[in-house]
Amino acid sequence: MAAKSKSEEAIELMRINGELTSKALAEVGKAVAPGVTTKELNRVAETFIRDHGAIPNFLGYEGYPAAICASVNDVVVHGFPSDYVLKEGDIVSIDLGTSYKGYNGDSAYTFPVGEVSAETRKLLDVTKASLYKGIEKAVAGNRTGDIGHAVQSYAESFGFSVVRELEGHGIGRDMHEDPGVPNYGRQGHGAKLEEGMTICIEPMICAGGRGVYLARNGWAVHTSDHRNAAHFELTVVVRHGKAEQLSTFDYIEKDSTIKF
Ligand code: MF3
Ligand code: CO
Repeated sequence: MAAKSKSEEAIELMRINGELTSKALAEVGKAVAPGVTTKELNRVAETFIRDHGAIPNFLGYEGYPAAICASVNDVVVHGFPSDYVLKEGDIVSIDLGTSYKGYNGDSAYTFPVGEVSAETRKLLDVTKASLYKGIEKAVAGNRTGDIGHAVQSYAESFGFSVVRELEGHGIGRDMHEDPGVPNYGRQGHGAKLEEGMTICIEPMICAGGRGVYLARNGWAVHTSDHRNAAHFELTVVVRHGKAEQLSTFDYIEKDSTIKF
């Protein structure tokens, strides 16, 4: 199915989902600390989402068993919340979304647990900055390859590598819609971006090589060299001139109690 622009009414509902998703991520961020299990983070997210009248859209998605993905260190994405106890120096990528009035939110943030190494700090900063480089290209008339190229060239300029097996996506009534939004690519290639399209951009960047493998549970994606990977995701509306963000990290980064 070809990607379609959304009506402003649909975008307004997407905006509500984006707000809820952003606030839920910040709630989880407040709970991230050494000694906390990733299951506990799942409980925080699910409670917050349901208390706000929304549904955690990951739960049950193609059989996914939780409200969030909690991907620690070498897990790139889709880590199951578990009894794993976070420890100082870990990083944990939290990916979550909401379903509200038939539309979806979807965003991710990689949190440091206590103090992390300088190299890990750099990985987090570069991955997040690469997402904003991508968002700058999410304007009407560009193509998905412009986004991918911007993410890739930025991340690789620091010696990091880009996971190719997974990509961003359109979003709306379904969490995953057309077009796919790869984090690598060639300028001027790929699907055309049109005003009103709602897409998720989500770079997954590795400290080492870009090779990954799927865990035996069929979900968790690990780096083959077991070095760290980071993942940041926002939902935006393609506009003429400048994309409009539907989700934001402001609730995380403006809260002085959250380490980011
Ligand atoms: N949020 C993921 C994405 O960005 C999707 C998670 S799939 C789920 O595309 F099954 F874990 F929900
Ligand atoms: Co996504």
